[in-house]
Amino acid sequence: MYTAEPMFRFAHLSDPHLTDPSGASARELAGKRALGYLSWLRRRRHEHRREFLEGLAKDLHARSPDHTVVTGDLTHISLPQEFLEARAWLSSIGSGDRVTVVPGNHDAYVHMPWESALGQWTDYMQTDVAQPASGTPFPIVRVRGQIAFIGLNSAVPTPALFATGKLGESQMHRLEDTLASLDDSGLLRVLLIHHPPVPGTEKWRKRLIDAPVLCRLLERTPVDIVLHGHQHRPGHALVRITDREIPVFGIPSASAAGLHCAHASTYNEYDVRLHPHGFRVDVKARRWHHETEAYVEEPIASLDIARD
Ligand SMILES: [Fe+2]
Ligand SMILES: [Fe+2]
Repeated sequence: MYTAEPMFRFAHLSDPHLTDPSGASARELAGKRALGYLSWLRRRRHEHRREFLEGLAKDLHARSPDHTVVTGDLTHISLPQEFLEARAWLSSIGSGDRVTVVPGNHDAYVHMPWESALGQWTDYMQTDVAQPASGTPFPIVRVRGQIAFIGLNSAVPTPALFATGKLGESQMHRLEDTLASLDDSGLLRVLLIHHPPVPGTEKWRKRLIDAPVLCRLLERTPVDIVLHGHQHRPGHALVRITDREIPVFGIPSASAAGLHCAHASTYNEYDVRLHPHGFRVDVKARRWHHETEAYVEEPIASLDIARD
């Protein structure tokens, strides 16, 4: 028997690319950022639009999730002012205890000091477990109700025209320890990462380089659901591990106008109910519908996740 009302509702949105880098100085636009700026000027600013993001936020507030997760790419070219702009937007979505963020490759477009870049979002990346004194806190763990959100940082600066991600050896070690400590917790384990973790599902120049290592790690220390962004399109895949399959969900950009047959602004909603042997998770998309000018609901999946 399931509980009648969702015991916990969380929302997933990604790739808002919400910032406006037009105030950048010539000095700031040196190197790789110049290409990114041109791409924004020619294409991305027409596709990623503030009015869609505002519409999504309005719908999201009306649905009143208990928690919201954002899987990266809030900025375009990682200018210090973009991190401040994104921080202001995050506070319009919710406070740090109700919103969790992991970075995307555009949030590590070039090397930036932690304090003037991702450090601006620390309220949204706090972890419930012991944290290093300085630098990146990842992997982060945030327990909300019966759910443990585990956030990873796959965002690393890359050469121009590359958008690859990497978790790296030390984050991978800490992740394995973290997941092992959650093994008997009875919590629903939801892994958050910007890049898709399934090898072969992304172009070579945009892939998660150590996805095969992550998949082997998940065989030893599994999670229940993986959420990612990066591809700007909906996705429902499976990581196949020895005795089970882990569902993996991707999502279009939260700010997408949906031009040229691209996917329009969307967020996903996860209603989690308890039953005697585990969890039932109903996954729905709330997608912008141009004809009715409203967010409409589309069921995606119903998951039964067993607990011993
Ligand atoms: Fe993106
Ligand atoms: Fe990305």
